[in-house]
Amino acid sequence: MNNSNRRSFFKKSLVMAGAFSSGSLFNQLHAEDFEEKAKIYNDLSPEEMASNEDYWSLIQQAYPASSSPVLNLNNGGVSPSPKLVLDAVDRYDKMANMAPSYYMWRILDQGREPLRQKLADLGGCDPEEIGINRNATEALNSVIHGLDLNKGDEVIGSIQDYPNMMNAWKQRALREGIVYKQLSFDFPIEDDEHIVDMYRKAISPKTKIIHVTHVINWVGQIMPVKKICRMAHERGIEVIVDGAHSFGLLDFDIPDLEADYFGTSLHKYLSAPIGTGMMWIKKEHISKVWPLFCDQDPTRGDIRKFESLGTRSFPLEQGIGEAINFHNAIGRKRKEERARYLKNYWAEKAIKIPGVKLHTSLKPEYSCVIAGVSIDGMTPRELESTLLKTYKIHTSPVSFENIDVVRVSPHVYTKPSDLDRLVKALAELAAK
Ligand SMILES: Cc1ncc(COP(=O)(O)O)c(C=O)c1O
Repeated sequence: MNNSNRRSFFKKSLVMAGAFSSGSLFNQLHAEDFEEKAKIYNDLSPEEMASNEDYWSLIQQAYPASSSPVLNLNNGGVSPSPKLVLDAVDRYDKMANMAPSYYMWRILDQGREPLRQKLADLGGCDPEEIGINRNATEALNSVIHGLDLNKGDEVIGSIQDYPNMMNAWKQRALREGIVYKQLSFDFPIEDDEHIVDMYRKAISPKTKIIHVTHVINWVGQIMPVKKICRMAHERGIEVIVDGAHSFGLLDFDIPDLEADYFGTSLHKYLSAPIGTGMMWIKKEHISKVWPLFCDQDPTRGDIRKFESLGTRSFPLEQGIGEAINFHNAIGRKRKEERARYLKNYWAEKAIKIPGVKLHTSLKPEYSCVIAGVSIDGMTPRELESTLLKTYKIHTSPVSFENIDVVRVSPHVYTKPSDLDRLVKALAELAAK
């Protein structure tokens, strides 16, 4: 950087810092205003922005979670919302409680279609393919239970998929006699063809569905979804994608995955209110999927048939819109690159510590923000509880099938200094 560039960078930094330093301005700051201010960095690529602590300090201040006494490195479980999302939900909730049936059904519900459009814009898809749910479990169970399958029809998944979805398939096997085959992967895997081949080899003439998790929640492996979909479609097999850990984090349009069905949480990396999710169903399939909660016309080709839920929280739903504003203000690619940078920041230091093992690929195509770590001689439960009790660091212990790790999942509000704390803790524990 030459002197004049440095001066201009410094000036930009002051503008950015000033935007949030007064507290009052920050508190009132709307995501769109923030986007205006963020434009001063538009000439930097997402990769260059990944380590721009001046910019990310604004994001950190947007999240009340930044001042939590416990360092939250389990954002993969549920992510906190920025203040403007919390404020919006609070506003909507107060409104709803003035005259609930009036304000909820007649006023807030008017926001449903604009919200559908906003979610569709975020997913790069048609709003007529987007259903608004309360979580990924509801979205994916609607599809899993909604498909007509006959006794003997086969579904291929893996033992590393999410338990709620595996249980749904197991219930169908028990109740209706479908055959649920489960692969087992040894992660990390840095070979797409190996993964696609495992699904390919499990296919039989009876196979109707492949169920795949886009980002494996236990260790953060990114699965080659598009390649799996292409291979499956050549054989007339449909694909359901569990995108709980990809949507709102990775830079992709849903139709580009070439899947048939996609379900996700919105309360993970999108930072939408806790208790929000979304489904995407390819238009031509909607009419054949039976809704989980009955609709007056269950065979209609209208995605809204999956929203016949009765009373639920409209304030939470409407808060999704603010989370999307905030997300868009950062930008999809910029967010993905920062998330990956944070994972690499701690993981690259951690792997140099004797006795510490990483269970996640550091190649960008195979992981983003989640990584699994272990220390020789400690169980995941011991490591997790020591990190919490001694270091006030919250992580997630995983002892599941062939995976024994502590899952670490930062978020865009996580500071590198927080991750230094984690690395120091790992080094101290590994040295014992
Ligand atoms: C891969 C995966 N799918 C689905 C879910 C369930 O998400 P939700 O709690 O939104 O139903 C999770 C939760 O962590 C998950 O990791």
